[in-house]
Amino acid sequence: MSAPILAAHTLTAGYGTMDILHEVSLDVQAGEIVSIIGPNGAGKSTAFKTIVGFLRPRSGRVVFNGEDITGVRPDLVLRRGLAYVPQGRIVFPQMTVLENLEMGAYTVRDERQIAAALEAVYALFPILLERRYQRAGTMSGGEQQMVAIARALMVRPKLILLDEPSLGLSPKFVTLIFDKLVEMRRAGYTLMLVEQNAARALAIADRGYVLELGRNRFEGPGATLLADPDVKRLYLGG
Ligand SMILES: Nc1ncnc2c1ncn2[C@@H]1O[C@H](COP(=O)(O)OP(=O)(O)O)[C@@H](O)[C@H]1O
Ligand SMILES: [Mg+2]
Repeated sequence: MSAPILAAHTLTAGYGTMDILHEVSLDVQAGEIVSIIGPNGAGKSTAFKTIVGFLRPRSGRVVFNGEDITGVRPDLVLRRGLAYVPQGRIVFPQMTVLENLEMGAYTVRDERQIAAALEAVYALFPILLERRYQRAGTMSGGEQQMVAIARALMVRPKLILLDEPSLGLSPKFVTLIFDKLVEMRRAGYTLMLVEQNAARALAIADRGYVLELGRNRFEGPGATLLADPDVKRLYLGG
């Protein structure tokens, strides 16, 4: 196997003096979809916040694209090509879809590069082209999630972390978002996601991790985890 695009080694991190993650390790190879599942409070979001620099780990390190980014600020992590879509489909509600997408490219100077990124994003999400002058706050939850994801793609990231992309969406949009994740991988993106929709997340994943109580519990190919009797019983509702 080649060097992973992301390697998080034995991260111990938390809030204040309380450790939430205990030596958690995760890695992602270029071109993969990696899904992280586990019960509420397992530390999945905390792991993402630590990787992208919102939290500094107490120990362990994060290597991205061959560089040590442990403790590097989130905006600098983004400039290196690691994008993060936080939980809660956060958009600028008063801005149009197009303005939201342009905000995603605020670190990019070259106008032609921005135009090319917009074109690529519209190819993946044609509805955003149709709705480009609509204010994001007036769109449905699923459409806002597409805006949030598309905004992260505007910098042409080497890796995108998505925290609960399907949370709170109607069944139709849950299916649509999972389809879009697969399409993104096909278009050459590399993804790592956290999902409470565990079975679907593993079904689209090349590999998966189960976190529990801030520790690595299981890992393996998505299909293997899906078929594992313990994983099924404990995390997939039988
Ligand atoms: N900002 C915070 N301050 C203090 N504790 C937090 C904070 N965010 C999360 N936690 C705690 O960290 C633990 C893990 O939370 P989180 O990483 O959000 O879990 P998950 O995403 O797996 O549901 C929980 O016990 C949660 O209460
Ligand atoms: Mg979470």
